[in-house]
Amino acid sequence: MNPTHRKLLCPSMMCANYGHLAAEVRALDDAGADIFHCDIMDGSFVPNFTMGVMDVKTIRRYTDKPLDCHLMVENPLEKVQWFIEAGANIIYIHPEAERYVVKTLAKIRELHACAGIAVNPDTSVASISEILNLCDYVLVMTVNPGFAGQAFIDFTARKIKQLVTLKDEYGYKLMIDGHCTPQVVKEMAALGVDGFVLGTSGLFGKGSTYRERLEALRRDIEGD
Ligand code: DX5
Ligand code: ZN
Repeated sequence: MNPTHRKLLCPSMMCANYGHLAAEVRALDDAGADIFHCDIMDGSFVPNFTMGVMDVKTIRRYTDKPLDCHLMVENPLEKVQWFIEAGANIIYIHPEAERYVVKTLAKIRELHACAGIAVNPDTSVASISEILNLCDYVLVMTVNPGFAGQAFIDFTARKIKQLVTLKDEYGYKLMIDGHCTPQVVKEMAALGVDGFVLGTSGLFGKGSTYRERLEALRRDIEGD
């Protein structure tokens, strides 16, 4: 596969072992992770709390690779600066959670981070078509946001295919988040998805090392 099209493998850090977070970050960095995915939840937009600003700051200290923050929070306009100042390079907001989406995406870029939208399974492409040109990344939730370990929601594959056809026109990278098993990664990479959030389905708690998992996924993608 063309190296300029290297697929992005993004560890979902809510699934990491917080007993030694620094060592986890170093190991994932050494193993070839591309972007560290930080799930931020407020207990309101999604019925869960996970990571916060301090976790992002800690991860930032132990890797030079990009960090993204997936803000599963209400009214992210007021909050994006906290995470960019904590070290995030990419901010995903949910358009379902913000009245001022255009203003929020512009603010992320004004603060010198990449702007992304994360879209829930029931959010249509039609409802985000006006903002695709404002995004550096589009993250399709293939599970209901909020928890790791869920099953892939099959109807999201149709939206993924639609967004693959639009990505060159609008210039965003298309990412998926949720239940990214080796099989899902292989199939979706072949469809044209650019990157994958890897949690309990494809990376953590698998018995093998992070390097073994990531290298196996890259072989799956390359079709070796
Ligand atoms: C879900 C989270 C994820 C992901 C975890 O809200 O954003 O990071 O589901 O990965 P899996 O689904 O593989 O446990
Ligand atoms: Zn996420």
